Amino acid sequence: MTSSTLLFNSNQKNKHAAKRLVITIDGPGGAGKTTVSRILAERLGYQYVDTGALYRGVAVAARSAGLNRDDEAGLGALCDNLDLRFINNEKGLRLFSNCSDITDPIRDPEITMLASTISAKPVVRKFLLVLQRDMAKTKGVVFEGRDMGTVVFPEAEVKFFLNASQKVRALRRHREVEPKKTGQTIEEVERDLQRRDENDSNRRLAPLKPAEDAIHIDSTHLSVMGVVDLMLLHVDKFI
Ligand code: DC
Repeated sequence: MTSSTLLFNSNQKNKHAAKRLVITIDGPGGAGKTTVSRILAERLGYQYVDTGALYRGVAVAARSAGLNRDDEAGLGALCDNLDLRFINNEKGLRLFSNCSDITDPIRDPEITMLASTISAKPVVRKFLLVLQRDMAKTKGVVFEGRDMGTVVFPEAEVKFFLNASQKVRALRRHREVEPKKTGQTIEEVERDLQRRDENDSNRRLAPLKPAEDAIHIDSTHLSVMGVVDLMLLHVDKFI
C-alpha cells in the first residue's frame, strides 16, 4: 500500500460522502476501468455503476428473444419491456434483467461482441441514457463506460479517461477470460479488442473518446492501486 492510500482515512471518506460528486471513468476495454472504478467508489463511500454491463444486459435480452442485431424496431420493443437493475445480495453486486440474474451470461465472448454492435443503435442508447441519468439522482456515484463524460454526464465534476497499450489490455482481458475456459488465445482476445475499439470509436452516436475536460491516465505501467491513488489525488481537489 502506498503512502497516499494510508493517508486516505475514514474522515476523508466522510468528507467525500458529504460532497457527493459524480465521477466518470471512460476508456477502451481492458484499460482497468471496472476494477479501478469499484475500488475508487468503495474508498469514497460512493455507488458504482458499470454501464458496459447495461449494454451487455440488452445484448443478453436480445439474444434470448432471438432478435436480429439490426432489427431496430424489435430492439425498441425489447427495451420498452426491459427492467435492468443492479442488486446487492449475498453474492455481491449482481445485474438483474426482468428478475433473472444475468451477471454471468453478460460476460460470454459472444455477448461481448453483440453488446458492441447493439450499442451503436439509437434506440438502445436512448433507453440506457435515461436509465443511467436516473441512477445519478442519488449523487455520490462512479460511472464507468465509453461516453459518461462526453454525453451522459457532461456536467460531472470529475472526469477520467483511462487507457493502456493494446498489448497490455489484451493480456489483462485474457487473464480475465482464462478461468472461464473459453479457449480464446491472447491473439484472439487482442483481435476482438481491436475490432471493438474500432466499432466503439467510429460509431456515429456517442463514440468512445475523451471529454475535453477529462484527466488522462495511462495504466500501462501502473498497478491498480497506483491508478486509484492517482485518481484520489485528483478527486481531492474537487472537495
Ligand atoms: O465496458 P464493456 O466492455 O463491458 O462494454 C461492452 C460494450 O458496451 C462496449 O463494446 C461498448 C458498449 N458501451 C457503450 O457503448 N457505452 C458505454 N457507456 C459503455 C459500454
